[in-house]
Amino acid sequence: MHVIEAKGCRIPAVGLGTWQLGGRDCVRVVEQAIRLGYRHFDTAQLYGNEREVGEGVRASGIRREEVFVVTKVAPDNLAPRQLARSVRDSIGHLRIGEIDLLLLHWPNKGVPLKDTIEALCNVKRDGLARHIGVSNYTVALLDEADRLSEGRLVCNQFECHPFLDQSKVLGACRLHGMAPVAYSPIARGGARRDATLEAIGKKRGKSAAQISLRYLVQQGIAVIPRTSKVERLAENIALFDFELSGAEMAEIATLAKPDGRIVDWAWSPQWDR
Ligand SMILES: NC(=O)c1ccc[n+]([C@@H]2O[C@H](COP(=O)([O-])OP(=O)(O)OC[C@H]3O[C@@H](n4cnc5c(N)ncnc54)[C@H](OP(=O)(O)O)[C@@H]3O)[C@@H](O)[C@H]2O)c1
Repeated sequence: MHVIEAKGCRIPAVGLGTWQLGGRDCVRVVEQAIRLGYRHFDTAQLYGNEREVGEGVRASGIRREEVFVVTKVAPDNLAPRQLARSVRDSIGHLRIGEIDLLLLHWPNKGVPLKDTIEALCNVKRDGLARHIGVSNYTVALLDEADRLSEGRLVCNQFECHPFLDQSKVLGACRLHGMAPVAYSPIARGGARRDATLEAIGKKRGKSAAQISLRYLVQQGIAVIPRTSKVERLAENIALFDFELSGAEMAEIATLAKPDGRIVDWAWSPQWDR
């Protein structure tokens, strides 16, 4: 299995995103994904599907230590007591024991970062999560969080695909020894309509979505594409039987646009440009 390593944490390079998956469909897709070789699942308190993700893992019959499950603390739960309580709730929903990687889903200016990071480190110390990290952190926030955690954070998960230049935050991840994990790695399906990705894919018998994903994993970035369709699960994980050339990587890098960001909310931090 291909993994991205950071500080002793081995993150399977391809995971399944589960935002907007719910109910029996979510259980079924997770179970099927495990059959097809997925070993990494991305959920969050905000997605309301931790129960179903845990149920899919258990229903598959796989040994617990063979899967890597990520969940994220909601931005309203970042005060220390709420953080600890919400993580216990997540564990209760998932019913798979310790969380493999626990992330802070978004920064929240209303709670001092020092308090949140201390609470996150305590959750790890208390054995509720094997590894801890952040999501949607900018260069400045990563610098501060890394200092406050004394280097304990292993990951930053952020929007990353060929249409958005994320070189600054990627550089900060490398500087701090954190694994980058790309969300919306096929630009919410937008990659499949791109002529450049399609043309490169055609030469190799691959889809534009696969080229988008390969472009990221080839740079040492883990990807967590989401699909509700069982037939696309196999497509999104078949990324390791080909390699993009230097010229193809450079051509894909030119697709980044200043307005390429998809996920932007009122509570988003000041993004690096
Ligand atoms: N940390 C955060 O703040 C954050 C934010 C956003 C997302 N995430 C995580 O990242 C995961 C992935 O991101 P995302 O859901 O925003 O976007 P994405 O994975 O880039 O795109 C998902 C969309 O692409 C379609 N799709 C999937 N595979 C395809 C393929 N092979 N060909 C064509 N279309 C395909 C899906 O439709 P079908 O279902 O019809 O296949 C779906 O509409 C989320 O599920 C979530 O776990 C995290």
